[in-house]
Amino acid sequence: MKRFPDGFLWGAATSAYQIEGSVDADGRGPSIWDTYSHTPGTIDGGGTGDVACDHYRRWREDVDLIAALNLNAYRFSIAWPRLYPTGRGPLNQKGVDHYSRLIDALLERGVAPVVTLYHWDLPQALEDEGGWRNRDTAERFAEYAAACFGAYGDRVGWWLTINEPWIVGLLGYLHGLHAPGYKGDLLGEVTVFHHLLLAHGRAVEEYRRGGHGGRIGLAPNLMPHYPASDDPADIEAQHGSEGYVNRWFLDAIFRGEYPEDQRVRYEERLGPLEFVRDGDLETISAPTDFLGVNYYAPRVMQAVPGDQPWPWRVIVPEGIETTGGFTDGVARTEAGTPIVPSGLTDLLVWIHERYGDVPIMITENGAVFDDGPDESGRIRDDRRVRFVRDHVEALHTAIERGVPVIGYCHWSLMDNFEWKLGYAQRFGLVHVDYDTLARRVKDSGRYYARIAAANALVEPEVES
Ligand code: FCB
Repeated sequence: MKRFPDGFLWGAATSAYQIEGSVDADGRGPSIWDTYSHTPGTIDGGGTGDVACDHYRRWREDVDLIAALNLNAYRFSIAWPRLYPTGRGPLNQKGVDHYSRLIDALLERGVAPVVTLYHWDLPQALEDEGGWRNRDTAERFAEYAAACFGAYGDRVGWWLTINEPWIVGLLGYLHGLHAPGYKGDLLGEVTVFHHLLLAHGRAVEEYRRGGHGGRIGLAPNLMPHYPASDDPADIEAQHGSEGYVNRWFLDAIFRGEYPEDQRVRYEERLGPLEFVRDGDLETISAPTDFLGVNYYAPRVMQAVPGDQPWPWRVIVPEGIETTGGFTDGVARTEAGTPIVPSGLTDLLVWIHERYGDVPIMITENGAVFDDGPDESGRIRDDRRVRFVRDHVEALHTAIERGVPVIGYCHWSLMDNFEWKLGYAQRFGLVHVDYDTLARRVKDSGRYYARIAAANALVEPEVES
């Protein structure tokens, strides 16, 4: 049997705006996602996070659910605008108390809270002052982070500063698909990357200053990169895109420098990156305790000379050659994302080889499958069962190859507000009926609970 190391964390992940609802409750201020989702035409199906899964009111029930799934970890995010409704003091005590109760309830059930400080819900008041393009936002974040450490640092052992900085810049500034909804702003994108990393570094400094005994790290989304062919131009495209997506963030935090190749590509288009000030990279590379990794899919790159803004494009090939072998006829999720479990092994091995012995927690990994209840009320999401099984196996392979993986959080605990895609795309181990808000554990949830209880890869039961 493929066993995992003692103390391995088996969790599920969520984020505040995607599940909480109650956007006006207890003094919460608006965030950029309230503004964006209420702008007509932005969200598929017109959804907003106003109600979402109603978790802000049903959190007790959800903690019971987490315990019933045998999980010993739960990753969630704190909504910054609940603590600082306008992005700066005074602290809103009712917001503080909410997460305090949640943390206590998790601990009572033996579930370790893994807390994300920023999962995209910037207070709108800070956006009005320039948002993440404004360097001062990193300072506001450091204040907010310090308040969280002060309020919960005695009970929370795992902290994640920023979720997916690359996505924030790419979708929020270049493609206009996420809040705050800017398009074609390459300078905005790279400025925001820098300020998010600075915010991360400042939060780590505050954490150390407070003398807290837990662990803190970043939660980037990372992709293993493969060339579309052995043509040197495609290999160059692979390396280039890897600099944009992975190395930009990891070199900054682990090596204290931006990768030269990608820096040059930005400077060719934008001129000198003047927002990078002396000492910033020292702050950004303040030592962390672990790395969160969000893994969904690999990126297969093809050279496209002259394409904008970068000379490459992503393709979804018929097959992908990973170290696990050739994945022929690549399966896809319902969102069209290729399913390549061995890509997770390759990614983890690559991180370990390049950046050394940093402990890694998979902070997200999951897939869209839209299965709903059958007549008996059961949700037979066989494809997610398979997805979980194969990715847990790939994780085990990485551990066998020497990568220090300490935990795995599946995305997501329950179906929720999937940003621009609204409520149509279901990622949960638990099904949510959006009319009644009833939760119902899917087959994948039951299977994952068996893995967590065994601390090993158990095989799915063959059900009639
Ligand atoms: C990630 C996000 C998470 C969720 C999943 C599907 O990019 O961090 O909130 O939307 O994708």
